[in-house]
Amino acid sequence: MAERLLTFSVFRYNPLTPEIPPRLQEYQLEETMGMSLFIALNRLREEQDPSLMFDFVCRAAICGSCAMLINGRPGLACKTLTQDLPEKITLMPLPVFKLVGDLSVDTGVWFRHLNVRTEAWIHTGKVFNPQIEERMDNPTAQDIYDAERCIECGCCIAGCATANMRADFMGAAFLNRIARFMIDPRDERPRARYFEVVGTDAGVFGCIGLMACDDLCPMEIPLQGQLAFVRRKMAQMALCCKCK
Ligand code: SF4
Ligand code: FES
Repeated sequence: MAERLLTFSVFRYNPLTPEIPPRLQEYQLEETMGMSLFIALNRLREEQDPSLMFDFVCRAAICGSCAMLINGRPGLACKTLTQDLPEKITLMPLPVFKLVGDLSVDTGVWFRHLNVRTEAWIHTGKVFNPQIEERMDNPTAQDIYDAERCIECGCCIAGCATANMRADFMGAAFLNRIARFMIDPRDERPRARYFEVVGTDAGVFGCIGLMACDDLCPMEIPLQGQLAFVRRKMAQMALCCKCK
């Protein structure tokens, strides 16, 4: 592999020092074999600028904390290799979420709100008995697992045109979470309860179908399929109501 000298243009701004305006700061670094953006940013912080702010926990595409705009596209820094990028790399924080500083954003508040709003737990009147295994068929378990793979990175929200234009838009992660509980036969909520939450312009009707969420999800969750599932169930319920 021919050695390259990479140039990083990194967004710098600390909301705690508003007197210093936002700017792009340039750094240079020699590329090494198999270098990820996680490795590059850590080297920049250790060797050149200890004030650089960014988030990492797992380094293995599990925690979702390292999402950022990589040359304008939301993605995970720990999963992105520099060899797949040009020599000039621009790094910006994810839009939509509250900026903590530089490349660090607070996705936690947004996802906490999601969990509260969707009541993201199994609603059942049954008393839990650890001695009895509650079985379900494999395809249903697989569908729940697919939806559960969300690592709450925020890439789908940051890349969504509607979420960038209106703060109340739920976005793909939200609708994926709703679909997860609608699929689960253990959840006894009436369908209407879900639709009260998502059956609005801030929910399923706000999506304009650009499908960036589906393209950007690092876990390759079929987000457009989940949206279609929720819409289909809503239409079925509306038709049933009309028949009565
Ligand atoms: Fe990230 Fe995908 Fe979850 Fe969206 S659905 S938050 S892109 S893992
Ligand atoms: Fe956990 Fe990248 S550091 S997903």
